[in-house]
Amino acid sequence: MITPTIYTERLVMKPFGTELAEEIYSGWASDPRVTEYMPYNTHTDSDVTREWLRTVEAGVNSDNSYDWAIYIKETGELIGSCGIYYNKAVSLFEPGYNLKYTAWRQGYGTETMARIVKFALEDLKQTCLRALCDKENAVSRHILEKCGFVYDHDGCELGYDGITKREMNYLYLRIPGVNSDFVLTNGIKIPAVGFGSYKSTDGIDSNSKSPIQEALDAGYRYIDTASFYHNEEAIGETLSKCGIPREELFIASKLWPSEMGYEEALEAFERSLSKLRTDYLDLYLVHWPRRNSEDSNWKQTLRETWRALEKLYAEGRVRAIGVSNFAPHHLKVITENCQVIPMINQLELHVGYMQDYTLKYCFEHNILTQAWSPLGRTRVLGETHIMKLAAKYNVTEAQLLLRFLNQRGIPVIPKSTKRERLLENLDLFRFTIDDFDMSYLSTMPEVGWSGEHPDWENKV
Ligand code: A2P
Repeated sequence: MITPTIYTERLVMKPFGTELAEEIYSGWASDPRVTEYMPYNTHTDSDVTREWLRTVEAGVNSDNSYDWAIYIKETGELIGSCGIYYNKAVSLFEPGYNLKYTAWRQGYGTETMARIVKFALEDLKQTCLRALCDKENAVSRHILEKCGFVYDHDGCELGYDGITKREMNYLYLRIPGVNSDFVLTNGIKIPAVGFGSYKSTDGIDSNSKSPIQEALDAGYRYIDTASFYHNEEAIGETLSKCGIPREELFIASKLWPSEMGYEEALEAFERSLSKLRTDYLDLYLVHWPRRNSEDSNWKQTLRETWRALEKLYAEGRVRAIGVSNFAPHHLKVITENCQVIPMINQLELHVGYMQDYTLKYCFEHNILTQAWSPLGRTRVLGETHIMKLAAKYNVTEAQLLLRFLNQRGIPVIPKSTKRERLLENLDLFRFTIDDFDMSYLSTMPEVGWSGEHPDWENKV
């Protein structure tokens, strides 16, 4: 799409090129905070700005970047620039703007940002945007929040000099009512709602429709399994016959503690692939951090297991790798000495068991948390207050619990053997839980915990 000229209430945003380099740069440099960051953060002189604009001009008709010069409608004064750029690493568009110092504190920043967001959602048909702002820059964060962005986590970015680290806030905008995918650190997208297959195939006779086919028919494309579930063969059979192209499916599996160790993990992966009748997995997880509470050598075993997953990832046999049921002290064993940081930690997470200590750690380390047993295996559904809140939003208790996790930035993998529930569990995006209720649900007293704990379990 060609960058259009856009009019807001008080501004005109026009596509521009190198001719404005000098003027844009001097406006930019008039910002005392930018001057402060100058050595590592921004354009060091107008030549750098011109060079940047040359790449912008070259890409005017591309679908990857849109830039505008911002003018005050009434006076014609040029007050800054803004743009939205596709970040390949995360497969999302990211907006940004700069206003010269004299144009601050008049609401132009919010007016500009709100219009770029509208452009991204309506013209570029995006359902999720990401924005970064310097941790120190509270104004920028405030503007992003006013435009619908929600703070997600802290992180570091390299500055303009390629050396200095800047502490950043990462914010996301997801449209209520739209089921947007989540994005892993390597840019792989994962659906917000997947199908958890544990025990779903138990007791099914060969005459009845496969529960996996039922899930696919309902619209699920993410199928979560594990060697321990003993259903990979049944899943593989259904997937091979379902007619859905492999690239539209997201298949995740896990290795069991008895399969931990370097060679063991590689062999376990091959077994899973062959049972699932595919030549790659979308996600492969270490199911539990240790075999049992007596296993004093668990750290070594875990490191070797992770090394095997890194090899599979490097060879392109799996698109993303991660862990399940890991607390921070388990994650550290991997992250202190690894090539690839786990991209996902799949945890038991539901209202009444939110594991905030682990969630915080994962957010801070860019590890996406995903919820198994998001309904607390139905133990939370009958809680009086959950029933009241579900009635308030005119949804079922299950929808309330799943939407709550979605709004907390957590993809879910509920399971059900019933068609109407499968559909219900996907239909989460017609309502938004307000802040007051989000806060109550986040801190509800413990209820529905399975009792499974990574350090107390005897798995093998
Ligand atoms: P069923 O298979 O009879 O539908 P979790 O995913 O937290 O482990 O919970 C799974 C349990 O929740 C299963 O027993 C499933 O039963 C039940 N369940 C799944 N979806 C719903 C729903 N929408 N309403 C009520 N129960 C549900």
